Amino acid sequence: MMQTVDVALADRSYPIYIGEQLLERGDLIADHLSQKRVALITDTTVAPIYLDAISRALAALKVAVTPIVIPAGESHKNWHALNSVFDALLRNRCERKTALIALGGGVIGDLTGFAAATYLRGVPFIQIPTTLLAQVDSSVGGKTAINHPRGKNMIGAFYQPLAVIADTGTLRTLPAREVSAGLAEVIKYGLIGDVPFFDWLDNNIEALVARDAVALAHAVKVSCENKARVVAADEREELGQRALLNLGHTFGHAIETGLGYGTWLHGEAVAAGTVIAARVSAAMGMLDSKDVSRIIALFKRAGLPVTAPDFGLSRYLELMGLDKKVEGGKIRFILLRAIGDAFLTADVPEKALAKGLAASVSDE
Ligand code: NAD
Ligand code: GLY
Repeated sequence: MMQTVDVALADRSYPIYIGEQLLERGDLIADHLSQKRVALITDTTVAPIYLDAISRALAALKVAVTPIVIPAGESHKNWHALNSVFDALLRNRCERKTALIALGGGVIGDLTGFAAATYLRGVPFIQIPTTLLAQVDSSVGGKTAINHPRGKNMIGAFYQPLAVIADTGTLRTLPAREVSAGLAEVIKYGLIGDVPFFDWLDNNIEALVARDAVALAHAVKVSCENKARVVAADEREELGQRALLNLGHTFGHAIETGLGYGTWLHGEAVAAGTVIAARVSAAMGMLDSKDVSRIIALFKRAGLPVTAPDFGLSRYLELMGLDKKVEGGKIRFILLRAIGDAFLTADVPEKALAKGLAASVSDE
């Protein structure tokens, strides 16, 4: 059974299709095309598993496919890989109406989205996320980017896809570590504003880790509903709501940049970053210590790290100084008043920051 969640953005609204065996549904792609031709961007891990199935489904509908395969992994979400995509698009004379299809995880989705936003000043694109993280988060909402050596996702654009096709069957070939990484972003939705979903996760996390199909489909759908609601309310992160989706990311991006891209997975860095945010919130007298323990326990059960690398406060501050939420030179943090109640603030005493961080870099 296929479920559809809509992202309501007036004339740029689009569907997120969620279900099994959707890669075989060429019509879900073809219905959105204005030219019977696509460039399909994927990576060296995903291509051998899924490229043939999609190409066959599209060929059956007489849609020509130009495959472009780049190396897998976060360390390739950079200018070099992006330029290799531009080279291939130009070499194959892809036109303004040639849609780009992103088939893969968040790295492929973010990089392809940015290529689509800028190639020929903007071409249509469709997201086909194949990791849990991409299905619940990165493929939805139009944030596209590549990394800069100095900071995560620093070069990018807001650019919405025409559709998102989340085939939950693809999660069966995902390594266990990647499933856990995706669960970090799933848990995030519960923490920032969905208490019933957090409670459901608390009761079903083992089923998700074990890839129970029904549990996974539910988690993808509820996550997409949460994300679609926030994106519809604050598409360009100008009004405060969308910034909350970055819970754990200010610290998490610092961990990813500080360790070198690809050392920790994005979701792993988000989990450890969320633990720091929770502890800083507690150090400011906001979050109950029982809730901090409940959050840490859930991340652990999801197979995620809860102890952050020990760079020292000043290095963390240096790394976080390049966060996109910095305003007027002040780092803005997403903190928690309670599970389900996140807020954005620049007003964090250094003492609380130091205390929260110190407790999070050692196994207390
Ligand atoms: P990823 O794209 O690197 O994919 C993880 C690994 O899994 C890769 O090696 C990939 O080749 C492999 N893979 C993908 N699908 C597979 C499948 N079905 N079976 C087997 N292997 C498969 O990482 P990710 O976790 O999907 O995405 C992380 C990226 O997403 C980060 O760069 C992060 O910044 C970005 N992100 C963006 C947003 C956004 O709103 N745009 C939100 C969250 C995260
Ligand atoms: N992942 C954060 C956002 O989409 O805004």
